[in-house]
Amino acid sequence: MIARNLGLSRRQVTRLLRAGRVLDPGGMRLDDARLPCLPSDGPRTVVVDGVEHLLHHRVSVLLHKPVGVVTAHEDARHPTAYALLRGAPLHRELRAVGRLDLDTSGLLLWTTDGTLLHRLTHPRYAVPREYHVGLAGPFCDPTPQLRLDDGHVPTIAAWRRAPLDEMHPALRRSATAREHASITLTSGRFHEVRRIFAALGTEVVDLCRVRYGSIELPPELPAGAHEAVDLHAVFRGLSPAPEGPEDEAPASESPEDEGSRSARPEDEAS
Ligand code: URA
Repeated sequence: MIARNLGLSRRQVTRLLRAGRVLDPGGMRLDDARLPCLPSDGPRTVVVDGVEHLLHHRVSVLLHKPVGVVTAHEDARHPTAYALLRGAPLHRELRAVGRLDLDTSGLLLWTTDGTLLHRLTHPRYAVPREYHVGLAGPFCDPTPQLRLDDGHVPTIAAWRRAPLDEMHPALRRSATAREHASITLTSGRFHEVRRIFAALGTEVVDLCRVRYGSIELPPELPAGAHEAVDLHAVFRGLSPAPEGPEDEAPASESPEDEGSRSARPEDEAS
């Protein structure tokens, strides 16, 4: 736990323990590397070289992703969303819950919990994602028959035209955006919102994800900032997923479309 939380090797931690540099908050020396530290005990505090550290088993954070940052751990050309999480507990283990394009801002969740990440992105759970959108011009109303360029039929849970002053403050306000809308999808296909509006006759100029399940992007959270989040809250108020084998995705839709692997820079819009 000390190795994971402080970003050290096990050997480095063994040395610290042996040298008496790790204490409990009461000042008692901790030098037994086999001392149990169970998830059920909750986060535990240790003091290493006089500095207190809270040891976490699992961590989830909500990032306000700015425009111009890629959803990736590493990228040769652009700053990464991952770099913005520096300083978060268990930073090395955090994985993005889905991806946002380079030009998209808004709510990007991260977690160290692989099971939860799978549930949050798997099509079977159909977690609704709401986006606020600035558009180059008028568009047709979507119909259930709407088919995208790759034949995919998007599941649009809700949509509406809306005035600019009803858009989330995190949506970029480009001068070329003439119309605004809100759209909620229960899937996370590659460039899905952009491709939906292209099929409806216009172009997305500004795009911001404002909600993932029941978790909203806090309006006061500055771009680039992150905060701790309870990801179980995503499912609060949603209907339970239909019964079925946990790991099988429908042939037409794979959980890999949104983030069950490490984000790849080539997937991003530029
Ligand atoms: N749909 C898109 O087109 N882009 C995103 O970043 C997210 C959803």
